[in-house]
Amino acid sequence: MASPIIAPSILAADFSKLGEEVRAVSNADWIHVDIMDGHFVPNLSFGPDITKTVDQVTDQVLDVHLMIENPEEWVDQYIDAGADCVIFHVEATDDHVALAKHIRSRGVRAGFSLKPGTPIEPYLADLRFFDLVLVMSVEPGFGGQSFMPDQLEKVRTLREAIDNNRLTTLIEIDGGISEKTIEQAAEAGCDAFVAGSAVYGKEDPAAAVDNLRRLATV
Ligand code: DX5
Ligand code: ZN
Repeated sequence: MASPIIAPSILAADFSKLGEEVRAVSNADWIHVDIMDGHFVPNLSFGPDITKTVDQVTDQVLDVHLMIENPEEWVDQYIDAGADCVIFHVEATDDHVALAKHIRSRGVRAGFSLKPGTPIEPYLADLRFFDLVLVMSVEPGFGGQSFMPDQLEKVRTLREAIDNNRLTTLIEIDGGISEKTIEQAAEAGCDAFVAGSAVYGKEDPAAAVDNLRRLATV
């Protein structure tokens, strides 16, 4: 299996020195950018301008997680801002395949995410349109919440569907990933791991990234 992808979430970073915080995890594979609109989730984070600022300080893959309503109206702005992977929520759109096709037509990776209460089964037939599926292991909206182990069932279902159909779609998990939970997520079949507080809550964020990657290597 390929080396696990570790994606620190800058939601947990110190925004007063965002550039430094991004550079502090230069050993990470991707940078996870959480976009919240105060409607789809009960919290606000940042938008395309901050995303662009992050893109300017790193060559790492920007993994942009849109927790917003009407993602169709916004994806182009995030692609223009430097997103390498755009993830929208299936609960927020009526046509996830059309939106994925549009994102891919712009030359970036397309992903969808699901809230913990949303079943994966209705989407299994459409996996070929996606480069990535982001499984939420907390209710989206806030960092620092507890991992929901029951979401690993979704990961196992996805792993089987992806492998059986010989697809290259990656499975990413987001929420409550730490040195205590990452191994079970890796065993269930995740390829990529978002970690906010488990990276930026540590004195040495880069060491935390390396430690998480080591633990996720199954
Ligand atoms: C939650 C966000 C997550 C969050 C993860 O809505 O999508 O990416 O930043 O934070 P931790 O790792 O602290 O649970
Ligand atoms: Zn996220």
